[in-house]
Amino acid sequence: MNSKWSLLIFAPLVLTANFLCAIEDYWNWNFMKSVSCQTFFDTAIHLPKNFIFGTATSAYQMEGNKTVHSTFIENSWTLEKFRPQAGIGNDHLNRFKKDIEFLQQLGIQMYRFSVDWSKIEPEEGKFDDQMMMHYVAIAQECIKRGITPMVCLFHFVLPPWFMHKGGFEQVENMRYFVRFAQFVFEHMVKENVHWWMTYNEPIVYAFEGFFRGNLPPSKKNKLIVAGNVLKNMYNTHVEIAKFIKSRDAQAQLGICHLMQPLHPFHEYNLLEWAICKYFGRLTNDVTLEFFATGNFNWNYLVRGFNPDAPASIDYMGINYYSHTIIKQNSLFEYPPLIIHDQGRRPQETMIGKTAMYPEGLYWAIEKAAQVGKPIFITENGVDDPVGDLRDEFIKKHLYAVSKAVNNGFDVRGYFYWSFVDSFNWNGGFDEKFGLCAVDYENKTFACTVRKGSLPFVNFMRKRVGLQAIASV
Ligand code: BGC
Repeated sequence: MNSKWSLLIFAPLVLTANFLCAIEDYWNWNFMKSVSCQTFFDTAIHLPKNFIFGTATSAYQMEGNKTVHSTFIENSWTLEKFRPQAGIGNDHLNRFKKDIEFLQQLGIQMYRFSVDWSKIEPEEGKFDDQMMMHYVAIAQECIKRGITPMVCLFHFVLPPWFMHKGGFEQVENMRYFVRFAQFVFEHMVKENVHWWMTYNEPIVYAFEGFFRGNLPPSKKNKLIVAGNVLKNMYNTHVEIAKFIKSRDAQAQLGICHLMQPLHPFHEYNLLEWAICKYFGRLTNDVTLEFFATGNFNWNYLVRGFNPDAPASIDYMGINYYSHTIIKQNSLFEYPPLIIHDQGRRPQETMIGKTAMYPEGLYWAIEKAAQVGKPIFITENGVDDPVGDLRDEFIKKHLYAVSKAVNNGFDVRGYFYWSFVDSFNWNGGFDEKFGLCAVDYENKTFACTVRKGSLPFVNFMRKRVGLQAIASV
């Protein structure tokens, strides 16, 4: 057989074999069935003493667009009136002291919250000191209660004036975000705040805001623009990191990156495989590669290099929820799923629209390790309105973390999203991610621990030397 023929025959076989090897892993969880909840935490989860348990929230989700002046202010999300609106959220603006006291009761050691740029700098160059002091007060309250604050500078909402200038699409606008970061830093560093996260999920912002249209500015199919936005955000992160690190030797700075494995529904559908490979690289790998090497390569559509990127993070934050199954529903469907419905595997437990896939968290840790920095799971959680699967979800995901740690991966902490229910973007108030339920009905916004969260809460309490409780 001449070499051309052998290439024609063997290349597809090799390619297919390569693709098939990559199909997702499923662990055998039968051992969990015979073990009681308490025993599970005591015997199956092995984490070092200094491993941190935290929780995360975001400003708009928790306090809506209300300001300390009792006015409501527009931001990039509220401008899009067709989307659900947070109003006053959980009234965290007024209730933050009670909420932080509650965190202490849950045994939480670190609180990741965001500051809202649209409230702090409502007009270009005009900073609202009182609003800034509100966020300073949140950090102070955490410290007072022995909880380490982690400040996130961006969690999906932006000031309208910044959007009008073209937002993160324009490289010349990056200086505005750097200036805002500097302003926040100067106030927080005086209070002994050292933990920073520049952005929450830049990949989600770029992809949903410019390719799928699920986040403002709601543009669609602008793949190259999305790549440029991401590159601008990351280069700005590097600038901010240089600034913060030059002024605070104790600063710990990172970003958080949503990791989501993509898997083809039909093992033999090469189109599904190709989509998984192509978009999986964009959504998962581009970011890791940038922080590991400084090389930005948006599948050759947008490229760049920033030699200072690897030194700009002290930790790699990973947000993990589930995997996405790419499914071509009919022969003529184009493009298969990435914009349509999520497929699912028959053997998977579904919680609402989400498949429980803890194996993916291990995968995410393994991949993120290539950055060579300590890893924090900066978000993991589940929208479980009925509340009977949260316990299983947490146990399985913690097991994945514990397994990774015991296999030598440098994971330092786990943040549950979130300690309470809160407004959730396009899902509004219907989604229930909270360890605790919130009294929205009577507008007291008081929190009560859900029954299914108690074993985890008691596990966290025990780690900080508190006794087990029957309810909070
Ligand atoms: C976002 C949160 C959101 C959570 C649950 C995360 O990707 O950072 O803002 O509430 O997902 O949907």
